[in-house]
Amino acid sequence: MKNAVLLTSLLSLGHDVVAFGRTRTPWRSTNDTQTWPSLNDTQPCTFTGSTGYSLLKASNRSCTDIVLSDLSVPAGVTLDLRNLRNGASVTFQGETSWGYSEWAGPLVSISGTNITVKGAPGSLLNGSGDLYWDGEGQGGKTKPKFFQARLIDSTISDISILNAPVHVFSINNSRNLKIANVIIDNLAGDGLAKNTDGFDISQSSNIEIEGATVMNQDDCVAINSGSNIVFRDGICIGGHGLSVGSIGGRSDNTVDNVLFDNSVIINSQNGIRIKTKHSTNGTVSNVAYRNIGLSYITDYGIVVDQSYGAKTLAPTNGVSITNFTLENVSGTMMGDGLAIFVRCGEGSCADWTWAGVNVVGGQRSTECTGLPAGIEC
Ligand SMILES: *[C@@H]1O[C@H](CO)[C@@H](O)[C@H](O)[C@H]1NC(C)=O
Ligand SMILES: *[C@@H]1O[C@H](CO)[C@@H](O)[C@H](O)[C@H]1NC(C)=O
Ligand SMILES: *[C@@H]1O[C@H](CO)[C@@H](O)[C@H](O)[C@H]1NC(C)=O
Ligand SMILES: *[C@@H]1O[C@H](CO)[C@@H](O)[C@H](O)[C@H]1NC(C)=O
Ligand SMILES: *[C@@H]1O[C@H](CO)[C@@H](O)[C@H](O)[C@H]1NC(C)=O
Ligand SMILES: *[C@@H]1O[C@H](CO)[C@@H](O)[C@H](O)[C@H]1NC(C)=O
Ligand SMILES: *[C@@H]1O[C@H](CO)[C@@H](O)[C@H](O)[C@H]1NC(C)=O
Ligand SMILES: *[C@@H]1O[C@H](CO)[C@@H](O)[C@H](O)[C@H]1NC(C)=O
Ligand SMILES: *[C@@H]1O[C@H](CO)[C@@H](O)[C@H](O)[C@H]1NC(C)=O
Repeated sequence: MKNAVLLTSLLSLGHDVVAFGRTRTPWRSTNDTQTWPSLNDTQPCTFTGSTGYSLLKASNRSCTDIVLSDLSVPAGVTLDLRNLRNGASVTFQGETSWGYSEWAGPLVSISGTNITVKGAPGSLLNGSGDLYWDGEGQGGKTKPKFFQARLIDSTISDISILNAPVHVFSINNSRNLKIANVIIDNLAGDGLAKNTDGFDISQSSNIEIEGATVMNQDDCVAINSGSNIVFRDGICIGGHGLSVGSIGGRSDNTVDNVLFDNSVIINSQNGIRIKTKHSTNGTVSNVAYRNIGLSYITDYGIVVDQSYGAKTLAPTNGVSITNFTLENVSGTMMGDGLAIFVRCGEGSCADWTWAGVNVVGGQRSTECTGLPAGIEC
């Protein structure tokens, strides 16, 4: 009885102290860690090895400085870094790996505002694609997509990705996002891996990707929708080139104001590509490619295709492509690849300005359609 009274008065005293001034509380109440600044606000929370994943889950987003050190994520789950606190940072250290599981992924998902995501020197995100590649891409084994980002006012830098099973970065619903010095090394997948798009961008604005190196087996970049997107100082090797599209038939079918600048595309199926789907609607406006070098391109140096996904059908004009600029684009084709190929619907391609386009080798196409005034195949 005595003890109970003492405890009750201590509790009420504690309550008063808490109400009066947080720093003077004589004990920690059960929700201190959620409402009060804790050590985790100023010191890094480090999650490591095979136990790190469950600790990260339990920490319940309380950390602002998250370090993932040689983290091994269990099979079939997402490294879930969604809804991070404003101002949080995530640093990948050493090798991050994932257990093998045939599932759709993503392997990592990050969202939040004012977030800094970076890779420490020598760090690596190993997707173990070699265990999944079966020559089928989206078919065959179910393969996890890699890295989903929904970030506002944020940066991703110095991330190295090795052997993605299928699509690598999916940037969706992001705004004011800068991505610098990312390396995607899927070279080992040549001949086996498919649909390993480097950066898929949708419903996003003010996105800047700088200094990326992408060695893969599909689009280096594919912009499905969004505005004010810049890709500069990039190197694309082995894939399908720098693409806008495919546009049409999605929830958002508008691409506006895109610049690809000072980049090279090597050993690839295509160089520059705009692809819009047959019998769909949309708008592609103010897209420019400047200072682009192409080497060893097998199929198309510069291609605009308005019957994407329906090769045998005549192109349709529901998606307009206007103010499309090429400036200083040069390079070489392989074998009988086509330097330039344009298949536009009736009247849907207009106001194109091409200057300093010099793609040599391969063949000239005699089958271009819907060319805007002043443009030649
Ligand atoms: C934390 O404590 C405060 C003050 O006692 C209370 O108002 C609040 O509801 C508590 N929050 C949670 C999540 O329990
Ligand atoms: C957060 O800080 C507390 C000490 O206040 C510590 O016990 C805990 O391990 C830290 N959490 C992480 C994930 O580092
Ligand atoms: C933290 O955990 C509490 C209780 O389990 C839950 O209600 C809350 O949604 C979690 N918050 C975050 C950001 O995950
Ligand atoms: C962004 O986060 C940093 C800490 O990383 C913080 O100092 C800054 O105030 C935050 N900015 C905004 C606008 O919230
Ligand atoms: C990446 O993962 C694969 C398959 O799990 C493994 O064989 C390989 O050693 C790892 N590579 C590196 C560089 O860590
Ligand atoms: C992007 O997010 C929207 C929801 O805001 C969703 O409808 C759409 O399918 C997502 N797109 C991709 C490519 O993930
Ligand atoms: C495209 O737009 C036209 C004209 O507005 C409309 O008739 C047609 O149904 C639309 N097609 C699709 C696939 O939305
Ligand atoms: C054409 O697009 C470029 C960006 O690629 C933009 O700077 C320019 O203002 C646009 N021209 C017109 C007439 O809209
Ligand atoms: C033209 O583009 C190439 C390839 O990116 C670049 O090396 C060169 O400096 C550019 N020329 C001019 C005049 O900008």
